Amino acid sequence: MDKLSDQQLFKQFSYINGSWHSSETQLEVTNPATGECIARVSNSGITETNMAIKAAKNAFKMWSEKSANERAKLMRNWFDLLMQHQDDLARILTLEQGKPLNEAKGEIAYGAAFIEWFSEEAKRVYGDTIPAPANDKRIVVIKQPVGVVASITPWNFPNAMIARKAGAALAAGCTFVARPASETPLSALAMAELAERAGIPAGVFNVVVGDDAKGMGKVLSEHPDVAKFTFTGSTAVGKILIGQCASTVKKVSMELGGNAPFIVFDDADIDAAVTGAIASKYRNAGQTCVCTNRILVQQNVVTEFTEKYTQAVTKLNVGDGTIEGISIGPMISKKAAKQVDKLVDESIKAGAKLVYGGKFDSAGDNFYQPTILTHVNNDMPIASNEIFGPVSPIISFADEHQAIQLANDTEYGLAAYFYSRDIGRIWRVSEGLEYGMIGVNEGLISNAAAPFGGVKQSGNGREGSKYGLDDYLEIKYLCMGGI
Ligand code: SIN
Repeated sequence: MDKLSDQQLFKQFSYINGSWHSSETQLEVTNPATGECIARVSNSGITETNMAIKAAKNAFKMWSEKSANERAKLMRNWFDLLMQHQDDLARILTLEQGKPLNEAKGEIAYGAAFIEWFSEEAKRVYGDTIPAPANDKRIVVIKQPVGVVASITPWNFPNAMIARKAGAALAAGCTFVARPASETPLSALAMAELAERAGIPAGVFNVVVGDDAKGMGKVLSEHPDVAKFTFTGSTAVGKILIGQCASTVKKVSMELGGNAPFIVFDDADIDAAVTGAIASKYRNAGQTCVCTNRILVQQNVVTEFTEKYTQAVTKLNVGDGTIEGISIGPMISKKAAKQVDKLVDESIKAGAKLVYGGKFDSAGDNFYQPTILTHVNNDMPIASNEIFGPVSPIISFADEHQAIQLANDTEYGLAAYFYSRDIGRIWRVSEGLEYGMIGVNEGLISNAAAPFGGVKQSGNGREGSKYGLDDYLEIKYLCMGGI
């Protein structure tokens, strides 16, 4: 952290009601590339979570009564500051999360784009008028902020997942309590420091850091003063949180797990498909919900694709993300790397063939080699589980019908990708895939203007885009009579 040009961005306390709060105990934040302790952050718990909710509740009237233009201006200041400090924020992110510095810089710009997008969208929260069934009545619809929003976000995108939620919430006029992953709290705290500098008033954006995930999660999802709960993480945890939200009938948004198919048809531009698959698979070392999880290739081009794909994978460099030229950083923990290794081993035992990688990397304990398996089928552990690691299982298929059937054969429905140059096929396959987001001849689909979200057990609600704002608004119907 001594290389930061602005040392004030390195914060080790929770941020509640515009002040920094210490606690009796601390939690250690470690660099997953080296195992080194890089920070000791105050370990907040249930008491501080309740304090943050109270602060957000008290600030709600003031924030929601500001004009959309006033809120937009403060959010724009926040966006400008996030971008001005992009290098420092990226460094903090790489040190606590592991992704290569250039990817971390990309995440800071990606996160900031949500603050910018929603600052502009704040001014476009339009209502409606509807023709009434009787002449003496008028029907008017207005939109209002839901109230206090609580969020729980994961370690794989320590900045952007908070920005995507907080941007929409603050633009709508809601106040916000963030509980970042305890592995990666420093990015969230740096965002809070910049929110304060931007002039966002006390209580509007709060960050509580603590390792009592269950206890804090229970308070955030059950508290009667929280009107909306938003979560990004695993489907298993999402189900528990949805259950807890039911006790107070909260509005919920869930961005849960995925098992993204990446389909290469025989009419595809194979070189473009290779480039797209590398980008989609190996971003963040494969630790992304929308990462390609299964590569489905039409059988008459599987040899050509596999050869070209393997060539491209050999060029990926594994190592500490702070080193220039590294494309694959560490897994978040040794446990995570072991889980990936287990899926690879079990699938090889079940008949998959190892073409490349398949081992821990010499760069350190948490590093896993980019790996390619062929002769995989949909029932093997590497295909039926969300890998969350740098492994590419290749499955071959005969025709379009089988490709769609294999792609949909999962409880997940977040992102899917396919490559084809046939316009008829592009429509048929786009419509046939049971996923919330489809990349057509494109491996990277995320941006602030587009609706991010899944179907089936990948969750509900949308983040980003004009649809993302609606998730933080209530519709109120006014029936005007006696006219
Ligand atoms: C995620 O892994 O949930 C987020 C990925 C993205 O925003 O592209």
